[in-house]
Amino acid sequence: MTDDRAPSAPAADGFPPAPGSHDPEALRRRALDALLTARARTATLTDSVEDGELTAQHSPLMSPLVWDLAHIGNQEEQWLLRAVGGRQALRPEIDGLYDAFEHPRSARPSLPLLAPAEARTYASDVRGRALDILEAAPLHEGGRPLERAGFAFGMIAQHEQQHDETMLITHQLRSGPAALTAPAPPDPTDAGSLPGEVLVPAGPFTMGTSAEPWALDNERPAHRREVAAFHLDTSPVTCGAYQRFMADGGYTDPRWWAPEGWDMVREHGLTAPLFWHRDAGQWLRRRFGVTEPVPEDEPVLHISWYEADAYARWAGRRLPTESEWEKAARHDPATGRSLRYPWGDTDPTPEHANLGQRHLRPARAGAYPAGRAPSGAGQLIGDVWEWTSSDFLPYPGFVAFPYREYSDVFFGPGHKVLRGGSFAVDQVACRGTFRNWDLPVRRQIFSGFRTARDA
Ligand code: AVJ
Ligand code: FE
Repeated sequence: MTDDRAPSAPAADGFPPAPGSHDPEALRRRALDALLTARARTATLTDSVEDGELTAQHSPLMSPLVWDLAHIGNQEEQWLLRAVGGRQALRPEIDGLYDAFEHPRSARPSLPLLAPAEARTYASDVRGRALDILEAAPLHEGGRPLERAGFAFGMIAQHEQQHDETMLITHQLRSGPAALTAPAPPDPTDAGSLPGEVLVPAGPFTMGTSAEPWALDNERPAHRREVAAFHLDTSPVTCGAYQRFMADGGYTDPRWWAPEGWDMVREHGLTAPLFWHRDAGQWLRRRFGVTEPVPEDEPVLHISWYEADAYARWAGRRLPTESEWEKAARHDPATGRSLRYPWGDTDPTPEHANLGQRHLRPARAGAYPAGRAPSGAGQLIGDVWEWTSSDFLPYPGFVAFPYREYSDVFFGPGHKVLRGGSFAVDQVACRGTFRNWDLPVRRQIFSGFRTARDA
């Protein structure tokens, strides 16, 4: 399931036969497992608070948790029951309520939403039918594009996991005592001997994929990109390094800021990352209901693109482009191929990366030696989403599939690309080619960054 050195031309619909699609039963098990994993996590996120907290608005930036829950069910109904299964709508009157484009998040609490018990029943009714459809669906090569290689089932598992990350953001924004707990991530083993940056030599590499069965439309197709030589931070920028920027007047000197970023700093009076505050001479942060000292060597989190951009300028560096990030993460100079993940083509294990909400924080810089790329860079997958300098744009040959509202309507200069996934994203929705995007002012997301410079 890797990209060839010379990618074959994608089929007219943008989906060439995927490797592994010769084994429909393996894909069926994979889809079942991904759907069950997502639902278990949804249950953790929605059963860990009282019903009153499910309907409350914890932040105008977020939906009430009960909206996410029913929206998860409604997307699954539209794609797995209606589009794949050809079934009639279970509750046609609710489609509009759960259409993300009809109602902004801030307006969702005042909609006549399904109550928590109804939303749970609806999502589980849909799921029961979806599993029946999965059991009988033909997932073979040459089948309908939605069913081929189990794509729609993988897409819906990714959709649920993406909303689970969104719900975890809502948990972080809510006030009150902790509702979720998790063990600490592993410590670094050789952080002291790691170089600060790695050199990625000039040369072309294969970006994106035409082969990964559940890659979403914006990751396709595989194509060659020329990349000039550059240096990249070995690890994401830490809280300690970021505090040196703050102590050096980073938030008070317009020299470091893009004009819109400087406007944001002044309008909101920003002095530190979101969720940080100063107390008795030290920086503290609130993390899932617990207040604790800011850890020096943990990747900085809850940073807007503008803050990442300003830090990089202060440091005499810059953010990496999206192609630089992906080359550092995937290019294997030994074979000339692009890998599925920094460590190779095998799926992530807990030794490779901090994914899937197993921990409720990033691991310290230098952790996960088994997850490092051939370039030498580490923690590219998991821990924190990493801002790149790039606008979210389609790859050459992009075809919207299966709906324009996933990617196509967001392309353009308004959204910046984030790469690599955070501790909050599940592995089904994270790989070397996966692309996330957001507005450059966003800071409630699990975002950090690393910096680069020309070689
Ligand atoms: C890809 C994370 C930007 O949450 O807005 C969920 C994912 N799309 N439902 C988002 C998504 C439709 C999307 N992001
Ligand atoms: Fe959605």
